[in-house]
Amino acid sequence: MKKFLVLVLAALMVAGLAVTVQAGEGDPIKVGVCIYKFDDNFMTLYRQELQTYLESKGAVVTVVDGKGDQAEQTNQINSFIAEGVDVLIVNLVQSSAADAIIPLVQAANIPTVLINREPFVDDPSQWDKVWDKVCYVGADARQSGTFQGQIIADLPDKGDVNGNGVVDYVMIIGDPENVDAQYRTEFSIKALTDAGITVNELFAQRGDWDQAKGQELAATALAQFGDQVDVIFCNNDGMALGALQSIKAAGRTVGKDIYLVGVDALPEVVQLVEADEFTGTVLNDHVGQSHKAADVALEVAGGTTPERIYTVDYVKVTK
Ligand code: BGC
Repeated sequence: MKKFLVLVLAALMVAGLAVTVQAGEGDPIKVGVCIYKFDDNFMTLYRQELQTYLESKGAVVTVVDGKGDQAEQTNQINSFIAEGVDVLIVNLVQSSAADAIIPLVQAANIPTVLINREPFVDDPSQWDKVWDKVCYVGADARQSGTFQGQIIADLPDKGDVNGNGVVDYVMIIGDPENVDAQYRTEFSIKALTDAGITVNELFAQRGDWDQAKGQELAATALAQFGDQVDVIFCNNDGMALGALQSIKAAGRTVGKDIYLVGVDALPEVVQLVEADEFTGTVLNDHVGQSHKAADVALEVAGGTTPERIYTVDYVKVTK
């Protein structure tokens, strides 16, 4: 009797297994999403839009927080692999980790869409060497830097608010490992010099995309250089929101005796541009980027070979 039961159970298990496997075709696509950290103004908007959009397409989505720790994120990727997701969308903690992550997902045969932190920018030929089911969806950070510089160069006084003939600036940098930080720092200033403007860097330090650090660094720079500061460039709006608090605390007024530009066009910053409290920002299109990443992920999960890189345009935002 006991033996019979065991046999029946075994048969049921096999049948159950067969049913699951057969149902595979019609099953919703399982997407694992790894975000470098949840506590980031821009990536919060991005991940919420990404999840909503993927779910609207019928996908089953799990989003995890890498907490700014690459080792933690690599574990999360391994867990998704063990779970058997159909496709991964990964916002690397460190762009350089692409070298280790790509072989991992390839060995598990899980197509992967990298987002927001572009790998191999220094050497695009690296793309030819990696698995063709991996791609990148993002934006060209050079464009955002150029737009920041142009916003300042297009002002009536070309950014020289104290009229000493030179644009003296403070640069608050994101995470310097990230190409968005490198290019925004470089190309914002290049746009000024390309417009024939003389520049002078007073202060440049990393704020890791973080509002509190932006506030701290701007306070330090303003205490040190006072009225000499014409412009505060911030690699993102989060840090610029922090800088604005310090500008006000120092008794300065954006648009009157100092200029301030960020990148992202966070909704609260767009309102501040409207209210003349920010000189400008640059739209980092989280809607366009997340939708593109989701569409590409669902296509590669269905067997399509993606292009290597998809980019979404930035847009200048001034009053
Ligand atoms: C955004 C930043 C964000 C960073 C995260 C950048 O593209 O402009 O706001 O912190 O991505 O990697």
